[in-house]
Parts: sequence; C-alpha cells; structure tokens
Amino acid sequence: MNYNEFLSETLEKLEKVSSERELAELKATIFGKNGAITELMKKLKDLPPDQKPQAGKAINDLRVQLVEKCEQKEKELHKAKIEAALKSECIDLSIDKCDCHSGAVHPINQVRKKLTDYFVGNGYIVYDSPEIETDYYNFQALNIPPDHPARDMQDTFFIGNGILLRSQTSSGQVRLMEKYKPPLKMICPGRVFRNDDDSTHSPVFHQMEGLVVDKNVTLCDLKGALEGFAKFIFGDQTKIRFRPSYFPFTEPSVEVDVSCFKCHGKGCRVCKNTGWIEILGAGMVNRKVLENCGIDPDEYHGFAFGVGLDRIAMIQCSIDDIKLMWDNDVRFLRQFR
Ligand code: PHE
Repeated sequence: MNYNEFLSETLEKLEKVSSERELAELKATIFGKNGAITELMKKLKDLPPDQKPQAGKAINDLRVQLVEKCEQKEKELHKAKIEAALKSECIDLSIDKCDCHSGAVHPINQVRKKLTDYFVGNGYIVYDSPEIETDYYNFQALNIPPDHPARDMQDTFFIGNGILLRSQTSSGQVRLMEKYKPPLKMICPGRVFRNDDDSTHSPVFHQMEGLVVDKNVTLCDLKGALEGFAKFIFGDQTKIRFRPSYFPFTEPSVEVDVSCFKCHGKGCRVCKNTGWIEILGAGMVNRKVLENCGIDPDEYHGFAFGVGLDRIAMIQCSIDDIKLMWDNDVRFLRQFR
C-alpha cells in the first residue's frame, strides 16, 4: 500500500466527517482490530528483516499523524456541538415592552394626605373614629335630640337599634373629648354615609373633621387656622370668608368660602361666577357638646370644622361627576399621576 495515498485518502474522509459517531466509525477503520494501521502492523512481520525498521517507522509516523488529525477533528466536533447546544438552548430574556403603567394616588387620597400634612405640621393629632356609630355619638351628644329637625339635614342610613352609618365625622369630636381632656388638637379623616345620589353627591364620601379645645380659643383662632389651611391647599393669594350658618353642635356656626383659585375672584365656571367656592362648615363648639363630654364650657372653648374631601378633589381637579371617583377606571386615575 502506498502510505501517502492512504494518508491523503483518509484525511479526505476525515474532512467530510460531521458527527462524533461518524468519527468513531472512521477511527475504527483505521485503528480498530481490523483497521488499516493494525493490518499494516500485522504485515510487518512478513517483511524481510532489513526492511522492518524502516517500514515500522513509516507506519508509526503515519499512525501518529492520523491520531493527531483525529484528535483535532474530535475537538472541532466537540466545540461545534457545544456551540449548537448553546444556540438552541439559549433563553431569550428580552421581552416586548408590556403595557404596564405605574399607579397613581387617588385624588381623594392626595387631598387627604395634603390636608393631613398641613394639620399634623401644625400640631394636630390624627384620630380614627368608627364608621358604624350609635345614634348617641352621631347625633345626641352633638346636641341633636331624636326629634330635632336638624336630623333632616343629613339623610342617614339607620341600621336599627340605635346603630347607624355615621353621617358626619363630627362623631369623632365626641369620642375624642370623652377619652382625652383639653388641650386638644385633632383631625379625624374618614368615610361618611348619606342617602344622597347625584352627580355631585355619593352615598359614601369623605370628610375631615378638625377640633381644637383649649382655654381662650376664639373665632379668630378658627379663622387663622382655616386661612392657613386654605392658602396651603389653594395657593398664597387665597382669601377666605365666613357666612353665618347653623349647626346644632357649633354656636356660632359658619359656612366657609375660599376665593376662587381659578379666576381669583373675577368669576368663572368653577366658582359659578360668584368668585367664591364653599368648602366647609365650621363654628365654635357648642357649650352643650362640651358639657356632654365632661368638659367645663366656662373654662374651655373650642372650634370645629368639617371639610368634604371629595368636594375639594373635584374642584381642584375639575371633576364634574363624583361617580368617576368610584369607577376605578385606570384612564381616570392615570390623569392624576
Ligand atoms: N358635620 C358638619 C357636616 O357634615 C360639618 C361641620 C363640622 C360643621 C364641624 C361645623 C363643625 O355638614
């Protein structure tokens, strides 16, 4: 056999090998029990002794060359196999941008937080009072006896047996004054319930009660507190005005307007051309209420106010239907990000 021919033929075959299995088969035909090299080795013994060393060396050189080439091929195949596996098993961690949006704080919560920040910053405590109340805390202790016509001011949900859904956070005033003695400064934010249902009234809405009780508290203090609060919420140029009103638990009672933050008093759609927007009810705590809570009305005086949070959110954000606040439509909520 011509060794060189054999070598080039074998290398040609090796070149075409494309899998580890094919390589193993080819190697068997070269180095195996009946492989070409093995056969050559076997034939060596038949050669005349003087040719043996030279032939032996030539066969060995051939073997060494082929072993080397096969190892090289094996490495190539192994590398290709790993690369193919990496390619086919690779996980694409990239993902199409999904339609995700970060949340937004509900306008009512934004108003509640802002008001709370203002009053807490001025030394008020935040007091939590029950939503399910007794007639006593919601009405009687607030100087509204069972047959008092003022009960008609708030169309209340009665549960029965003197239990009701609180129609105002003013019940929190009584609970606080029963529990703690003056000096007192508190706000009581929360949900209230009335049988009212139209575009500006919802059966569930939010109020924030404010109460200050101390010696020598006057209507002037009330005005100062509310003026500071109005400027904080609606801007520094905001003015407030008191209009006489009536609540059984305050005497005197006032309704408080702020100058329109949109037109600054000139008259526009927001203020219905009056230049003023009504935002809350307030007054000096009625002596009878202090007495009902065991506080001496000759020693202590107080003021109280109740703000509608939904109303403030609606006028500030130009929302014309209160129901939008309850629909939880993300398109609505996204606008307040
Ligand atoms: N509770 C009253 C209302 O809901 C508001 C108010 C609170 C008025 C405190 C005076 C003092 O209408």
